[in-house]
Amino acid sequence: MPVRVVIGAQWGDEGKGKIVALLSNKTNYVVRYQGGANAGHTLKFDGKTFVLHLIPSGIFHEGTTCVIGNGVVIDPIKLLEEIEAVRKVGAEPMGRLLVSETAHVILPYHKALDQARENARSEVLKIGTTGRGIGPAYVHKTARIGLRMMDLLDAKSMREKIEYALDDTNVLLDLHGGETVQTSDVLQQMIECGEKLRPYITNTTQLLHEALESDKDILLEGAQGALLDLDHGTYPFVTSSSPTSGGACTGTGIPPTALTHVMGITKAYCTRVGNGPFPTELHDDLGAEIRKIGGEFGATTGRPRRCGWIDLVALKYAARINGMNELTITKLDVLDHLEEVKIGVAYKLDGKIITHFPLNTNDLERVEPVYETFKGWQTSTNGIKTFEEFPTQAQDFLNAICSYVGVPLKMISTGPDRSETIRLN
Ligand code: GDP
Ligand code: IMO
Ligand code: MG
Repeated sequence: MPVRVVIGAQWGDEGKGKIVALLSNKTNYVVRYQGGANAGHTLKFDGKTFVLHLIPSGIFHEGTTCVIGNGVVIDPIKLLEEIEAVRKVGAEPMGRLLVSETAHVILPYHKALDQARENARSEVLKIGTTGRGIGPAYVHKTARIGLRMMDLLDAKSMREKIEYALDDTNVLLDLHGGETVQTSDVLQQMIECGEKLRPYITNTTQLLHEALESDKDILLEGAQGALLDLDHGTYPFVTSSSPTSGGACTGTGIPPTALTHVMGITKAYCTRVGNGPFPTELHDDLGAEIRKIGGEFGATTGRPRRCGWIDLVALKYAARINGMNELTITKLDVLDHLEEVKIGVAYKLDGKIITHFPLNTNDLERVEPVYETFKGWQTSTNGIKTFEEFPTQAQDFLNAICSYVGVPLKMISTGPDRSETIRLN
């Protein structure tokens, strides 16, 4: 049975949530493997809009079990809020949502440190984080002073671990102008969260191994995108985890040999929220127009997203580092009205044309994109059901993307609703 990974192929917000929700109806397990409540995955169905931050996007399919894997960093307060929000719209997470006992916990001091550090950075050094405590929580995980979900169930050990972590966290909070935290400020709150979350916390690694052995259909849901990957993204303007396919294995305990499909999701254009290089960014009215038509405002922070043309140099790089063997192109409809559309096919760096993605962030800031221009189709693609029904200009545009990247097109999305999707054979 397939073990499919759904990955953001750009800087996040490609429409992963919609695609995961759509694929969930045939999936036994949907598993988040990294990131935390920095993610905002929007689902639209039955005329309703719902944004998920931590709970996997399969939660509204009754037959699907949702797993938050060990690679995720979990804010227990946010998770409890999200469980209630999901419940309010009619889905019951109890018994269907399982949380890894080894996933790390985001504590209030991680959020305080994330925000204090961002505030203390000069304008050029600001990353533009979501302020959700993601970076500091992963720092504590790596420094081996983090708390894991299982620790929330043991008050004595939790007290010792929080006290130890606060020894240096308070020095840093003080240094960056944040308010210091006492163990008692957080301990009781975390004990209460632990009690409420107890029924959900389990050994998900074992669960997923059993699922693999009984040939279940598994879908691994990435957050963020390949270009925000800690190792392979536009460092330091990245998130602190591995959204790429390797992260799907370390973040769940599912081995690389079990993965059958690696599906990259890209928009028909490109967006980025937060700081860092973005070669094909449009700084003009057209960028603002795409933002308006595409509704490009952060699903987590509400910040306006930076908009530009699709960048195939970056997309091919994302395809390579992930081993993508399927591509989904979303938000094609946003370009419907344009007279012409462009795709970035190379960069000019110091007078030379290059077709590889530079790993030096300063070089990436300096490159000039080289475009191929296509005639716009200037007709609505919304609701189209087959590839052949697309205007030829749109077909040419889609074919050019896939042939450059060398990955077959699997799905096209022409609207936010599940029904507005075309599957290709
Ligand atoms: P994610 O983080 O990758 O799940 O993406 P977000 O939910 O942050 O952002 C994608 C936005 O685009 C959401 O508002 C979706 O409802 C919307 N969306 C997804 N696919 C399409 C599409 O094909 N067309 C349009 N117009 N909107 C889409
Ligand atoms: P989804 O899953 C887009 C960006 C932030 C910032 C950088 C680091 O919805 O695609 P962090 O809070 O992670 O330390 O911030 O990463 N970022 C995202 N951008 N979509 C996301 O998630 C993002 N999650 C983080 O804006 O630039
Ligand atoms: Mg998002």
